[in-house]
Amino acid sequence: MSAEKTGAENPGSGQGIEAVDLEAGYGRIEVLHGLSLAAEPGEIVAVVGANGAGKSTLLRALSGLIAPTAGRVRLGGADVTGRGPEAIAAAGLAHVPENRLVFPTLTVDDNLTLGAWTRRRDKAGLRQRRERVLEYFPRLADRLGQAAGTLSGGEQQMLSIGRGLMARPSVLVLDEPSLGLAPRVVREIFATLGRLRSAEGLAIVLVEQNVRAAFKVADRATVLDRGRVLLEGVPSDLLADDRVQQAYLGGGYAVD
Ligand SMILES: Nc1ncnc2c1ncn2[C@@H]1O[C@H](COP(=O)(O)OP(=O)(O)OP(=O)(O)O)[C@@H](O)[C@H]1O
Ligand SMILES: [Mg+2]
Repeated sequence: MSAEKTGAENPGSGQGIEAVDLEAGYGRIEVLHGLSLAAEPGEIVAVVGANGAGKSTLLRALSGLIAPTAGRVRLGGADVTGRGPEAIAAAGLAHVPENRLVFPTLTVDDNLTLGAWTRRRDKAGLRQRRERVLEYFPRLADRLGQAAGTLSGGEQQMLSIGRGLMARPSVLVLDEPSLGLAPRVVREIFATLGRLRSAEGLAIVLVEQNVRAAFKVADRATVLDRGRVLLEGVPSDLLADDRVQQAYLGGGYAVD
């Protein structure tokens, strides 16, 4: 593989993300009550759970947007608990938030370049990285000069992920990337996540309401319930579990 996979500038990378007994919330409201979860390099871990279970809160605690009140977060083998979002991004985590936050008036190309802000001095590395991201998302290559706000929902999601990848993360966490997208586009994006896992060795935490689609691509899965892990295991085992069947597959969640 290319030199950019060596992790030489980031010696701790290659060991994924791990949360241990995490407690976090907003002010005095505790949302996560001692939650543990890990994703290894080359692994996709799906996180599912009802509205309000704490999925987005978990991702915010992993990426430093909110500070845990107890427990640890380890990234690439280093303890990053309590560090802010810039420090955690620099340590190798890319957070693709819900609602695909692109800069609408900027071009696709400028949005991508902004994703590599922390590495902006490395022009050659930036060009190389951009080429790689466009190989993963060829639809963006045809639209580099287009204002991001005029992209389709699926293309904006690709840009949002692509922008995260520009920083060369070792860990990618995504908050409901399938939201509002047609099943065909969801399949395309999830297939790309599968390739990123295998070819780049990324550790991926995939928060999803689309349980079927997420479980198809995930290596392991965790079901959250009110800030705690209710179930975890390989997706095929979880799919056979009555509680998962009733809560997520009989209701309005399934898309394809
Ligand atoms: N900024 C905030 N301030 C106060 N409480 C919040 C805030 N954000 C989320 N919460 C609360 O934290 C709990 C968990 O919310 P969270 O967004 O993590 O759930 P979720 O599993 O991502 O749900 P959804 O599937 O709807 O996205 C909810 O009770 C929510 O009201
Ligand atoms: Mg959420």
